[in-house]
Amino acid sequence: MSKVQYDLHDRIAVVTFTNPPVNGINHEIRAGLSRAVEQALSDPGVDGVVITGGGGNFSAGADIREFGTPQAAGSPDIAGVIARIEASAKPVVAAITGVCMGGGLELAMGCHARVAHRDAILALPEVTLGLLPGAGGTQRLPRAIGVEQALHMITSGERRRAEEFTGTALINEVTDGPPLAAAIAFAQAAAASGHPLRRLRDVTLDAAAAEPAIRQARDTIRARQPRLQAPPACVDAVAASVTMPMDEGLALERSLFMSLLDSAQSRALRHAFAAERAAGKVEGLPDGIATLPVKSAGVIGAGTMGRGIAMVLANAGIPTVLVEANPDALAAGMAAIRQTYETATARGRMSADAAGRTLSLISPVLGYDTLGSVDLVVEAVFESMQVKADVFAKLDAVCKQGAILASNTSGLDLNRIAALTSRPQNVIGLHFFSPPVQMKLLEVVRGAATDPEVLATAMALARRLGKIAVVSGVCEGFIGNRMLGRYSAAANELVHMGAEPQQVDQALQDFGFAMGLFRVSDLAGIDIAHAGRLRRAAANPGTPLAPAFTDRLYEAGRLGQKTGSGWYRYEPGQRQPIPDPKVTAMLAEWRREHGMTPRAVSDKEIVERCIYALVNEGARILADGIAQRSGDIDVVYLNGYGFPRFRGGPMHYAAEVGLPRVVATLRRIASESPADAAFWTPALLLEDLAARGAGWPASARIP
Ligand code: 3HC
Ligand code: NAI
Repeated sequence: MSKVQYDLHDRIAVVTFTNPPVNGINHEIRAGLSRAVEQALSDPGVDGVVITGGGGNFSAGADIREFGTPQAAGSPDIAGVIARIEASAKPVVAAITGVCMGGGLELAMGCHARVAHRDAILALPEVTLGLLPGAGGTQRLPRAIGVEQALHMITSGERRRAEEFTGTALINEVTDGPPLAAAIAFAQAAAASGHPLRRLRDVTLDAAAAEPAIRQARDTIRARQPRLQAPPACVDAVAASVTMPMDEGLALERSLFMSLLDSAQSRALRHAFAAERAAGKVEGLPDGIATLPVKSAGVIGAGTMGRGIAMVLANAGIPTVLVEANPDALAAGMAAIRQTYETATARGRMSADAAGRTLSLISPVLGYDTLGSVDLVVEAVFESMQVKADVFAKLDAVCKQGAILASNTSGLDLNRIAALTSRPQNVIGLHFFSPPVQMKLLEVVRGAATDPEVLATAMALARRLGKIAVVSGVCEGFIGNRMLGRYSAAANELVHMGAEPQQVDQALQDFGFAMGLFRVSDLAGIDIAHAGRLRRAAANPGTPLAPAFTDRLYEAGRLGQKTGSGWYRYEPGQRQPIPDPKVTAMLAEWRREHGMTPRAVSDKEIVERCIYALVNEGARILADGIAQRSGDIDVVYLNGYGFPRFRGGPMHYAAEVGLPRVVATLRRIASESPADAAFWTPALLLEDLAARGAGWPASARIP
């Protein structure tokens, strides 16, 4: 069946385009729309046209899957189709339901009127893909809703409901039901009235009145997103809507769009978008596999993580029992939960009613008796195999058959935990990140015995909880923390070599990280990293613990922000890190004691070593089948570790640099650091791909 359908309703041609899943506008749709519009315009039996999308959505915009293919450049282009519609002598009306975004909204704005269901979602989200609206959106939206609002929508990509635009030139009529009949009536009335058609291009904007909003948008972007290319380009294009005639504005928009489309930033952001959607697809899970019901849950431990996980579950409407061993910890956990909802209410993020209802879904208890009926338990007790073994033995005894038993462990052997129960097939890792309510990432750890249905249920649950799930196999630290160990070792090596912690942090922040590694370390606590180091050493008796300066900080009681000093010092009650000459002196002494002559380290070297350490371990993780695909590793780093989104994640970044260049640099570092040669030697997979001139493999099966 054709993707563009043409029907006649009482002298109005109804053109319906359908391209699942979200009616992305590709070459076939553009050509079909163009043909349909020409047919309607040349047919004397047709007085007007309604354009609508099939399957419940208008359109999510240009078909992202077509970017970079020869079809993308195929004629007609979307701007040409829109120009033809706008120039039509017969009225053309868009009937909008579901999503109407990007090129979809641009198409609708080329029509002479728009009739939308009140809940239709309107947005120009191109900026989130490192682009700007390239089919007239930057010229027509300001003419429809004013420069200030248009700047906000275009530079943020924010989604708005159609109803909010009632009374503006963007939406002529909202409907409670399907908008098609109202759109047909609108087209008939417009044709019958004989009035000139309203074209957004004919609106003239007041340049002087728009100037303050444009200046403010530029200043805000410069301050908040100084490294991004798309937002200032969006402002330049919108500014053209007030300073240039329509066609010149369109030409400027087009040239800015084309140069962004070809930029590394846009490639990275488009990769991030696609990788996040691909991460939800699990290799080897049959399509349509049944998932288990999760109607109620239990969380064990009301500490930092447990209280947050209980809130995440309750926020999704799941009644949750919060179990503690320690009454004071339970009271403290519940007090923190209550406080969070009170703050949300006070700040207007939640109504008092909704906060009360959500809070009432969390039932604090001491003891395990109430867990007999729950569908899922998430364990978040101390990171100790002994404590976890005790908890899982209790869960095995009280939980009903078929209940999912999940652990939030950061890196303990999930297979060992599973083997401690009589039902390892029901055991899975749900590794939330701190703080669980805010952090989007969820590592779903698939044990050797985990049942496919349990895995599928965890992935579906993640979506319900609003999380981005990535499947990881079992290994020390799973995907994220295993790589973090290498990143942290590389950063530590840099200060051993001669860099100051603040130089390392600044170089990483200039690369785009929100915070450098040592600032993060001070925030998380140097004692946590220290305990992790000792645990890893105990787990790998063959590998002696390499001396690290961080132990000196630990021994000096400099545990980070919580003790007022760590890698930096902190004024009482302040979180701003201040470089500390004491650390410089301690480092100098440590280097002397270890026979190390400090040398100057460049910012380039800092970035190379830190990022390539991540990439090298990522390649090993892929080769080991711990991650399904390189994109999954990127999703973990983008959503769990503050890796700059505009770089696409460590694996995408490496591909952008070129794997042969990454390998050559790793080899050079390995030859310069004989003591750490094993650490820096390129992973075999990386060597192999670079030698073959190949990119990352499409998928790596978890064994
Ligand atoms: N083209 C092709 N496929 C698209 C698409 C698009 N524009 N937008 C989303 N999809 C696909 C997704 O890849 C996913 O595919 P999958 O099922 O194979 O994984 C499917 O649609 C569903 O997407 P989500 O999982 O994101 O589903 P949600 O319901 O959560 O969200 C959405 C739907 C709101 C449409 C969201 O996908 C979205 O924000 N899409 C991006 C829209 C966008 O950025 N449009 C601008 C495109 S650029 C453009 O138009 C250029 C123009 O200015 C010239
Ligand atoms: P925490 O120390 O803040 O809280 C642990 C809680 O478990 C304490 O309140 C303790 O009283 C309770 N507890 C101990 N034994 C218990 C038992 N037998 N029954 C019931 N409650 C018991 O620890 P945190 O930080 O919340 O960590 C919990 C788990 O989450 C650990 O496995 C940790 O590795 C993991 N994790 C921690 C992250 C973090 O940033 N803190 C991030 C991701 C995972």
